[in-house]
Amino acid sequence: MRISVIGTGYVGSVTAACFAEAGHDVVGLDADPAKVKTLSAGETPLFEPGLKDLLALGLREKRLRFTTDYSDAVRSSDIVFLAVDTPSREDGSADLSRITAAAESVARCAEGRKLVVVKSTVPVGTTRSLGEKMRAAGAPDISVAFNPEFLKEGSAVGDFQRPDRIVIGTDEDRVFEVLRKLYDPFVRTGAPILRMGIESAELTKYASNAFLATRISFMNEIARLCEKVGADVEAVRRGMACDSRIGSKFLFAGIGFGGSCFPKDLRALAASGRSAGIRMRIAEAALAVNEEQKLWLLPRIRKELGGSLQGRTVAVWGLAFKPRTDDLREAPAVSIIRALLEDGAVVRAFDPVAGANARRLFGSSVEICDSQYEAARGADALILATEWAEFRSPDLDRLATVMRGKLILDGRNVLDPSEVRGHGFMYVGVGRP
Ligand SMILES: NC(=O)c1ccc[n+]([C@@H]2O[C@H](COP(=O)([O-])OP(=O)(O)OC[C@H]3O[C@@H](n4cnc5c(N)ncnc54)[C@H](O)[C@@H]3O)[C@@H](O)[C@H]2O)c1
Repeated sequence: MRISVIGTGYVGSVTAACFAEAGHDVVGLDADPAKVKTLSAGETPLFEPGLKDLLALGLREKRLRFTTDYSDAVRSSDIVFLAVDTPSREDGSADLSRITAAAESVARCAEGRKLVVVKSTVPVGTTRSLGEKMRAAGAPDISVAFNPEFLKEGSAVGDFQRPDRIVIGTDEDRVFEVLRKLYDPFVRTGAPILRMGIESAELTKYASNAFLATRISFMNEIARLCEKVGADVEAVRRGMACDSRIGSKFLFAGIGFGGSCFPKDLRALAASGRSAGIRMRIAEAALAVNEEQKLWLLPRIRKELGGSLQGRTVAVWGLAFKPRTDDLREAPAVSIIRALLEDGAVVRAFDPVAGANARRLFGSSVEICDSQYEAARGADALILATEWAEFRSPDLDRLATVMRGKLILDGRNVLDPSEVRGHGFMYVGVGRP
């Protein structure tokens, strides 16, 4: 099939590379010429395991190319995927200006029959309204569908290639058949392709993200209670997870979730509720708990360091919102570092891949180091903010020699408290006695 993907960020670049690998002719378009140049050279403007190899393959086989030119992309494709960002507006609702601009550009260049598939996460009603706008703008033969993307940064390529399910929101049998055929090779292991109405598909995406985020906030609230009553949230989690009705995923207490999806999608769901006259109390609560949770360790570090952080050095391990990505959007580490700087602390940080993005974000206000032990040098306290694999079993003897102080705050509960204490450190986790 001839496919174009508009917006080549985390979702669009993976979508384009995976469809090209599956044998389709794919053009990726982005408004950012620098991104297009990088992708065209086979480099990735973002860190995503496995993506670079797929890009190289697509470019080499000439099934994949990138452009900034809408007429080139739209004319070279029968199916146009929209994968631009839909960030939060100030009131929490989804900012649809970019996807609207992208759809208008597609409509301007569309000749004959086109299928425009919205992959960006958008509030209920958006896909249908974009379709009406495009047809009114002189592209009468445009059909629309909504096809939410469920990939996770850090394992995006595998998630795309082996999805748990494909959701296709469309009113048209023909459109469903085209998309079913496109996705069939990705669901050979039996994952379902679910057809539903456009509105249901749009809401499925928000409901899924909000539910996952709620599980995390729920456990974080339980962790707070654990701290007060002398329980260990890790034991509670294990006890809950064995229940097949509950399961083990997204139950880890810590310093909260971040990223470009959970926080913004909770806000957008709450905003959709407000405009529909339905208060989304659970989404609002999950968000509120999370905002507090990001800074949960701050009072503790102040207390243990004698009340003031002025002039104290704090090391932060992990900056990205989760391991295996360089994405800093709404990352708890970023909120923590901002609060530490406000308190007058000196911050030294390390992340295996997000260092360059962090340098751009913080400039000279934070020392971004080249190794985890370099970041810990001279530190009065260490905060483990992202559970990268290399932080899980640190060389505690080495850490004891490079750090000035003895305080370790494990924001992801990945360290063994007794082992850490056994090396003379003071261990503080989240919801652990
Ligand atoms: N990141 C994820 O893990 C993830 C997962 C599932 C769904 N989503 C959803 O997918 C969408 C994209 O997310 P992302 O993380 O890939 O965003 P992103 O910010 O990484 O990428 C968006 C890209 O779109 C480009 N763009 C913006 N306006 C444009 C326009 N008018 N024309 C052409 N290009 C334009 C930007 O330059 C950018 O490269 C969002 O709605 C998001 O909620 C994201």
